[in-house]
Amino acid sequence: LIKFNRSIGQNCEIIDDLGKLPNIVRYTLKDISPTNIMIITDSTVHSHYHKRLDDALPEKYSVDWIVLNPGEDSKLFTNILSLSEKILKLRIDRNSLLIGFGGGVITDITGFVASILLRGVRWIAIPTTVIGMTDAAIGGKTGANTESGKNLVGTFYPPEHIFVFPDFLKTLSDRDITAGWSEIIKYRLLEGGDLWNKFGKQNLTTTPTSDIIEHCIRYKERVVQEDPFENGLRRQLNLGHTAGHALEVATAYKVYNHGEAVLWGLGVMLQLSHLNCGLPEDVTNLAQQLISKFILPESNVHPDTIVSHLASDKKRINNKNIWVLLNALGKFNFYDQVPEKLIYDVITKQLEFLKVGKAVR
Ligand code: GLY
Repeated sequence: LIKFNRSIGQNCEIIDDLGKLPNIVRYTLKDISPTNIMIITDSTVHSHYHKRLDDALPEKYSVDWIVLNPGEDSKLFTNILSLSEKILKLRIDRNSLLIGFGGGVITDITGFVASILLRGVRWIAIPTTVIGMTDAAIGGKTGANTESGKNLVGTFYPPEHIFVFPDFLKTLSDRDITAGWSEIIKYRLLEGGDLWNKFGKQNLTTTPTSDIIEHCIRYKERVVQEDPFENGLRRQLNLGHTAGHALEVATAYKVYNHGEAVLWGLGVMLQLSHLNCGLPEDVTNLAQQLISKFILPESNVHPDTIVSHLASDKKRINNKNIWVLLNALGKFNFYDQVPEKLIYDVITKQLEFLKVGKAVR
């Protein structure tokens, strides 16, 4: 298969011009030659880009669009069961192609159903959000949510291709841009170094540039190549996610989107890193200042609720949360002995920043 603009790893391409979409689709379909195509998307992406992708698909293919509600509810295991039935009724076979066209929720769902239907069908990811491009679509994790927590059901099932068109980011809402920066900040904290200095001067209200997106993808690809099934090193990508996931679940996914919750979780991580693992005060404060530039929705969550949701984190081992914490900028470690009282106190303090009417801006 021909390579497009910039290849990263085995299956990911960044293409800076959305005008190339028809060519890319044509070449890819020629190579795969699927029986039929099913595109899974959400109503937001559908309204912006349905025509664009439809026009790019050669007429000879039978194409079905499956349009889901935006948001984490679509990722509920029970909803994925109905979605699977729907896809089966559309006459799927082992040579059908699923295309996940949307943010992280959509690519997680598409990868998951692709991995279980008929014991595995082919799929492609076309992420349309910063989180989708820099994290969710990269590295082969798929997932569904259950009442017990987020991504508690899932598989490792990488798409055959990931086509990253940063042009899709032009229509992102302000909230989705904020959410996107959370993953970028995560990568920068993990990587440290000069990039951090550059980053401190960045305007965080604008859409991240394609260079930034590429940098994050390259970082993740390197990590995933070394530890594809998350037996060790890959756990670093969970920085800020332990508390972040708990906040998402504690508010039933209705108040915070994933990235907003991760921003809050990064604040928890920074405080724990400072108090428990020697992250210097100047780094802690600088990073905390950066995070507090983002406006998060308000909520009145009790610390007990967060702590009880921490107990269902899928990354727990021997009944303990594995916290990814920083000893310095660019230097992380895994901790399963963080004192419970310290966790409780930090969470209590960080929840104050979200309180209705009291949130610090
Ligand atoms: N989102 C974290 C990972 O892919 O490992």
